[in-house]
Amino acid sequence: MYRDESACNTYNYGDALYWDARYIQDAGSGPFDWYQRYAALRPFVRKYIPTASRVLMVGCGNAVMSEDMVKDGYKEIVNVDISSVAIDIMRRKHEQIPELQYMQMDVRDMSFFPDESFDSVIDKGTLDSLMCGTNAPISASQMLGEVSRLLKPGGVYMLITYGDPTVRMPHVNRPVYNWKIELYNIPRPGFQKPVDSTSGLKSYLEPIPLTEAGLLPADYVMEDPDSHFIYICKKTETKYISG
Ligand SMILES: C[S@@+](CC[C@H](N)C(=O)[O-])C[C@H]1O[C@@H](n2cnc3c(N)ncnc32)[C@H](O)[C@@H]1O
Repeated sequence: MYRDESACNTYNYGDALYWDARYIQDAGSGPFDWYQRYAALRPFVRKYIPTASRVLMVGCGNAVMSEDMVKDGYKEIVNVDISSVAIDIMRRKHEQIPELQYMQMDVRDMSFFPDESFDSVIDKGTLDSLMCGTNAPISASQMLGEVSRLLKPGGVYMLITYGDPTVRMPHVNRPVYNWKIELYNIPRPGFQKPVDSTSGLKSYLEPIPLTEAGLLPADYVMEDPDSHFIYICKKTETKYISG
């Protein structure tokens, strides 16, 4: 996936036909997890998402993440994806795992589900795909509006993305969604700290103290330029009152 969204038109990541073709082509190569595997994300998932939660995995693709979560004790994960090819593959693969459900669905319209029907929503690379499609800002606001609607008060939307706050906060941090955001940054798998690294004691498990505008502090050092961000968007208990 491109980190600079001005260059992502080369692939139609926002297009269902692109993903269907890709999953057909990759059918023999087995599953693939974008960005990060569950093992690396586990500290965040376990911290913010209790195992008894009803979880919605948006844009599940053919990743192993949901299966790994069930092995780790999660009881109910509803997986949706716009690609019917990916959903058919995953439904067949996991038909003996009742904790996993699969449904073909566009995340911009999840009206099938009633309001406040999930405790948590996990998104690994799906908002990023929409940001590479046509009408990206509209698609993003449709998707995020749906995610906010589906979350119970106190529920968490966990967004795993390559997008830093300058490109993601304008979409994610809108009062209408009624959530408070914490941000983490983790290196890509296999990243080796430079030998002259000065931030030897830095813990990736600590949230980044954001500026008033929700941006990275001016002195923030990102050791791995290809690292990933985890946005924890916690829906507040009270309803947002506009005006
Ligand atoms: C970058 S892949 C990530 C897949 C998986 N979450 C992972 O971590 O490996 C993006 C996924 O989003 C799906 N997708 C793209 N646009 C979508 C939409 N509008 N509604 C639902 N899923 C969509 C694609 O089919 C693809 O499986």
